[in-house]
Amino acid sequence: MTPLQNTASGEPLIKVESLCKIYSLDSGAAGNGNGNGNGTVNSQVLFDVSLSIHRGEFVAIMGHSGSGKSTLMNILGCLDTPTSGHYWLDGNDIASLSDDELARVRNRNIGFVFQGFNLLKRMTALDNVATPLLYAGVNRSDSRKRAQALLHQTGLGKFAAYQPNQLSGGQQQRVAISRALVNNPQLILADEPTGNLDTQTSREIMEIFQQLNREHGITIVLVTHEDDIAACTRRLIRLQDGRVVHDAEVPA
Ligand SMILES: Nc1ncnc2c1ncn2[C@@H]1O[C@H](COP(=O)(O)OP(=O)(O)O)[C@@H](O)[C@H]1O
Ligand SMILES: [Mg+2]
Repeated sequence: MTPLQNTASGEPLIKVESLCKIYSLDSGAAGNGNGNGNGTVNSQVLFDVSLSIHRGEFVAIMGHSGSGKSTLMNILGCLDTPTSGHYWLDGNDIASLSDDELARVRNRNIGFVFQGFNLLKRMTALDNVATPLLYAGVNRSDSRKRAQALLHQTGLGKFAAYQPNQLSGGQQQRVAISRALVNNPQLILADEPTGNLDTQTSREIMEIFQQLNREHGITIVLVTHEDDIAACTRRLIRLQDGRVVHDAEVPA
């Protein structure tokens, strides 16, 4: 069961309006002497970002380092909140949800994939994938069965008992993708998922994302630095200094 109220189709899955994000830093920590007199320095990293993403889209976000890509992804993933502006996920105003409801949304509606894989080191691949199901209240035996099926789906069926340090980077990312899928999310957010991988392995990982999008209809938003990775998606949004400066279909 999804914790979000599913709204009328036609409604975007993601809709953000006039998002701004300002980080307030302790001026001592900021260390640049630009204090505003009360000991903090404000640094604005997102300016008036508005966009909609519909179900089934496959979107790349590009931009130089520091342009605000991860900040935007963290807000889309309900891991962080904007300083101002609005975010509706599947028609639900995120600002109206309690912390418990947000935790449920993160667990059930969104799958996360990161550059550094973020696997638990002392757990097997199988347990890494099964853990979010246990948090969602699924029993151990069903969790393990589903985790095994997902490892099989991403080509890692034979590696269920391996720990992350016994796996290559590409294999670890397959475990992370399996984990992201385990609660059947509508949305996958991937922040530079191929950033630590060689070209051939990156291509294989992108094939998995393309298949998930094409065959399973999962909406994917993916941050990348690389043009050939962005070319695997269908829409490109470019951020520059915290502003959307380009948003268009990727030519087929
Ligand atoms: N938690 C934070 N506190 C203060 N500043 C931050 C924080 N996270 C990111 N920043 C700053 O915000 C800007 C954008 O960062 P980020 O969103 O990580 O960019 P990108 O992912 O495009 O490289 C950078 O200048 C970064 O230093
Ligand atoms: Mg980043």
